[in-house]
Amino acid sequence: MKFIVQPSTASNARITVPGDKSISHRALMLGGIAAGRSTISGFLAGEDCLATAAAMSAMGVEIAYTSATTLTIDGVGLRGLVEPSAALDLGNSGTAIRLLAGLLSGQSFAATMYGDESLSRRPMQRVITPLHQMGAQIDSNEGCPPLLVHGGRQLRGIDYTLPVASAQVKSAILLAGLYADGVTTVKEPAVTRDHTERMLGTMGVTVERDEHRISLRGAQMLSARDIQVPADLSSASFVMLAAILSRDAEVLIEGVGVNPTRTGVIDILQSMGADIVLENGRLFGEEPVADIRVRASTLHGGSIDPALVSLAIDEFPVLFVAAARAAGKTEFSGIGELRVKESDRIATMAEGLRRLGIRVDETADGAVVHCGEFQGGSVQSHGDHRVAMSLAVAGSIASGPVTVENVAAVETSFPGFVDSMAAIGLKIR
Ligand code: S3P
Repeated sequence: MKFIVQPSTASNARITVPGDKSISHRALMLGGIAAGRSTISGFLAGEDCLATAAAMSAMGVEIAYTSATTLTIDGVGLRGLVEPSAALDLGNSGTAIRLLAGLLSGQSFAATMYGDESLSRRPMQRVITPLHQMGAQIDSNEGCPPLLVHGGRQLRGIDYTLPVASAQVKSAILLAGLYADGVTTVKEPAVTRDHTERMLGTMGVTVERDEHRISLRGAQMLSARDIQVPADLSSASFVMLAAILSRDAEVLIEGVGVNPTRTGVIDILQSMGADIVLENGRLFGEEPVADIRVRASTLHGGSIDPALVSLAIDEFPVLFVAAARAAGKTEFSGIGELRVKESDRIATMAEGLRRLGIRVDETADGAVVHCGEFQGGSVQSHGDHRVAMSLAVAGSIASGPVTVENVAAVETSFPGFVDSMAAIGLKIR
């Protein structure tokens, strides 16, 4: 599958984007081990979250859809999951396999998890090491999936300092901590998304937190809770980018999650000169939400603040495209984690932008992106959803048509991407 993008520009619009991927995964997992029925609205019915839903169903959790984005989860309680009859296929989803590695470590049964070609190359040692310290036994293929989580071990709490800032690893340890004796503590080198901690809190688990340290005591029961999932800021960032790069558009994106552990993309774009305003701030449960108004803007380059990296970790493909249209040059550093995402995003974005006529100097842990004009041509997404969508938006303001190859993975996080882009005036088919 490919996108063919015709020169087009965003126009005035009011739009919603699909639900938050991170929160949707967590609603399925935590709802599944809570006692009672949780109703989830605004759920992201993308392939990644559907893989988590299938995994939870395979372990005895009843999930019923009342619409494409609303579902009920009949939680089985902390000790109620049952052994799946087959290996769990987590598709493309790093969040699913890493968080479930933590959850499965506390179970009485064994389970195997695997995924697609991209997931099979992604590093899992970062969750295996702390889970082994807790007493779990996990076999892997030299630190990559498939993972066989043996189960049947009584876990013990640990005090663990993450070597890399990762919400997935933090969450895996906290989920295992629910099944551990004593207290489990995770220290993070930089603040990462805290949806797990917030949702555990709403479900009645006491989680102690200061800025870089999160602790919970094992054997706390979760109570079912209805969850309204905000729109995904990561998906909204493609719409924001299109509006910023447009001639004179003003776009309002409604009901977007603006949890401060996620809003690095807004801070970075504003620091580059983007006109972005948050309106109508409110809460969906424990999650802050706002409408985001974005206007066409003139951007300038500079050095991106490394302190914002973990708060914008999924938005660097978007930020690379913004940088290509920012006066001067834009320097990114401290983003080495991008090399182990769905693709090596520093390399795949550098390649894509170069093919569209932009100079990019790659470094070991970053890149320098020079301002230029996009030209038409053919680019490769390397099967990475966020690279595909970022290059599609870049293509819309190129001097000629742009083809983005291998875009099927867009379904993992942003079902309806082409229709959403059409709604703001971009011609992608
Ligand atoms: C996620 C955490 C981040 C992010 C991913 C979703 C999560 O990964 O890149 O898309 O839901 O916890 P890392 O924890 O590996 O940085």
